[in-house]
Amino acid sequence: MRKNLIGMAVFFVCGLFGTSALADEMPGSDPAAFWNYITKVSPYKNWSFWADHQGMQPGRAPHGPLHKVYVNDRALNSPKPPVQYGSMVVKENYGKNKELKAITVMYKVSGYNPGDGDWFWAKYSPEGKADKAGKLEGCIGCHGTRADNDFILVHEFK
Ligand code: HEC
Repeated sequence: MRKNLIGMAVFFVCGLFGTSALADEMPGSDPAAFWNYITKVSPYKNWSFWADHQGMQPGRAPHGPLHKVYVNDRALNSPKPPVQYGSMVVKENYGKNKELKAITVMYKVSGYNPGDGDWFWAKYSPEGKADKAGKLEGCIGCHGTRADNDFILVHEFK
């Protein structure tokens, strides 16, 4: 009986620590792990908008006519560029009839790509299939025009 109780206590405590450790763990620079994180571990729809870019907004090429940009707490609470490591930016790209077409993301990973702001870039289908991911030249070429703003275009740090 006592053995069972001890066993249960150990099981319970491990379970508690196990889940909290998982929730805090950031994914690596891997497109599947990142998608799992932003949809299951910390669903991005529960994140925030930057105060100067809230909700659905009109956009430019190549991303399409409408979009929403969600940011996690680390990005939101970064007062000036560069943003803190672990910052995540998730952009939903919509067509002109408000149909979700693609999800493009930026994720700040320490030491990942120091020459270009340490950003991991990816483009997903709405279902979460990674069309492309990594140190993407195309994304960097265009966003790099605002390297002074940490490659971020929709938000101005004050
Ligand atoms: C030709 C220029 C261009 C290219 C290439 C480009 N972007 Fe963007 N991106 C923009 C513009 C302009 C915005 C501002 C919002 C809008 O107009 O849609 C933006 C906004 C974003 C945002 C919201 C955060 C921010 O920086 O404002 C993310 C995330 C993003 N792009 C990801 C990507 C990814 C991932 C790629 C490559 C697969 C990419 N972008 C390629 C021009 C570009």
